Amino acid sequence: MTTDAGELLERVRAGGPVPRHVAIIMDGNGRWARERHLPRPLGHRAGMQAVRETVEASIAAGVGVLTLFAFSEENWNRPRTEIGALMGLLEEYIGRETEELRGNGVEVRALGDLTRLQPPAREALDRLIDATRGGTKLLLNLAISYSSRAEIARAARRLAEDVVQGRLALEDVDEDALALRLYTAGLPDPDLLVRTSGEQRVSNFLLWQIAYTELFITPVLWPDFSRLHLYEAILAYQGRERRFGRVTA
Ligand code: IPE
Ligand code: IPE
Ligand code: MG
Repeated sequence: MTTDAGELLERVRAGGPVPRHVAIIMDGNGRWARERHLPRPLGHRAGMQAVRETVEASIAAGVGVLTLFAFSEENWNRPRTEIGALMGLLEEYIGRETEELRGNGVEVRALGDLTRLQPPAREALDRLIDATRGGTKLLLNLAISYSSRAEIARAARRLAEDVVQGRLALEDVDEDALALRLYTAGLPDPDLLVRTSGEQRVSNFLLWQIAYTELFITPVLWPDFSRLHLYEAILAYQGRERRFGRVTA
């Protein structure tokens, strides 16, 4: 770790509550590659290193839950070759990182419509989830084939099923009941949402869960994102006043 990162980490530790849940829209791999006259998949490959750093930095900072947007349902509309490269990288990441993740006490879960994954990617993901079950240092949610609207619609359907089947009274359909049927059931909402590459939009990510989340948009492209950037984002978060609609005390 560079002194800079160490110093920033000390400031994070002294700076007040660390976000319990950090969510990140990992964007800008394609632009990173284009700037270097490289094919887009090499940008995605470079992004893997940023994932590794971010996981380690989250553990060091004491973040409890890290949710990474890795692949959206809309991303299925990209060229087949790019999708193939991304799925290959997912398998490679899992092959390389499972032991380290397990050793570091990381529990991995996946959010999204995993039925759309090809069997090799699906099986690798299932193995990763099995291998890391019970990790207590960090919960790492990988949003893959994820759409927030699809997640909310699925939750609504499950609520309707429970009412129709007599397992739930209509009067008990409320915010908590819906939240319990999301992929994030039982988890705290993100305190901090980071988006890299400067885009000022949420791109169908965690729409329900980010109702009162603090947003941090950085122009840094995802492959360039390092532990320093995560600590900077947390420091910015610690400087915010969260009011939740109330007036300042
Ligand atoms: C983010 O980088 C990774 C995925 C969406 C899978 P992009 O591939 O979106 O990179 P840009 O936005 O084109 O630079
Ligand atoms: C959002 O990035 C999805 C992921 C980071 C996985 P996109 O690059 O797909 O989003 P848009 O198209 O810029 O909104
Ligand atoms: Mg993008």
